[in-house]
Amino acid sequence: MRFFIDTADLGEIADLASTGLVDGVTTNPSLIAKAGGNFLDLIAKICALVDGPVSAEVTALDASQMISEGRKLAKIAPNVAVKLPLTWDGLKACRALSAEGTLVNVTLCFSANQALLAAKAGAAFISPFIGRLDDIGIDGMDLISDIRQIYDNYPALTTEILAASVRTPLHLKQAAEIGADIATIPPSVLRAVVKHPLTDAGLQTFLADWAKTGQSIL
Ligand code: E4P
Repeated sequence: MRFFIDTADLGEIADLASTGLVDGVTTNPSLIAKAGGNFLDLIAKICALVDGPVSAEVTALDASQMISEGRKLAKIAPNVAVKLPLTWDGLKACRALSAEGTLVNVTLCFSANQALLAAKAGAAFISPFIGRLDDIGIDGMDLISDIRQIYDNYPALTTEILAASVRTPLHLKQAAEIGADIATIPPSVLRAVVKHPLTDAGLQTFLADWAKTGQSIL
């Protein structure tokens, strides 16, 4: 499973990328607004920090404008993935940009049928939003499971499932169990994943016992 990080914060991206665990980045207009600064410059800087796909979202609503915006975003760096909303126009733009060789991430997916359409439109990634479904009392993980089953029925569909709107370490574990190809994880959740009180306690004990030996490795 690949890990993308869901942020436009350059400091967070640089810090987490240094672990070698980050395979890409996703942004959206809300994350860009939170980070501040010029959108195109910010995407260029993020692309320089990570080798993998960096999602940059269009803001137009009609297909021809989406295509124009997508082409401009794709020119920023070879690892830009153009993010398009799951609308008819978004699907048309997905077909066109994918045919040009641009990676497309179709976002705001809330149903398995929407994911099927995105795959048929040639999307490189489909982003089903787990947390936002949980927020309205629908189990978001069921959507990941349904999409996995449908895509696996049709090996010709090569779209990767990018589990999005991940809010907790449990979301990550369950998405991995189901077989999502990628999860995009907020930095705070990724940092929480590594923590376990027994790891901390065990390390303290080992270090205390090691100190009693009076030795050093180097
Ligand atoms: C990623 O592509 C999405 O934009 C993001 O995961 C949405 O997360 P949220 O529902 O926590 O805003």
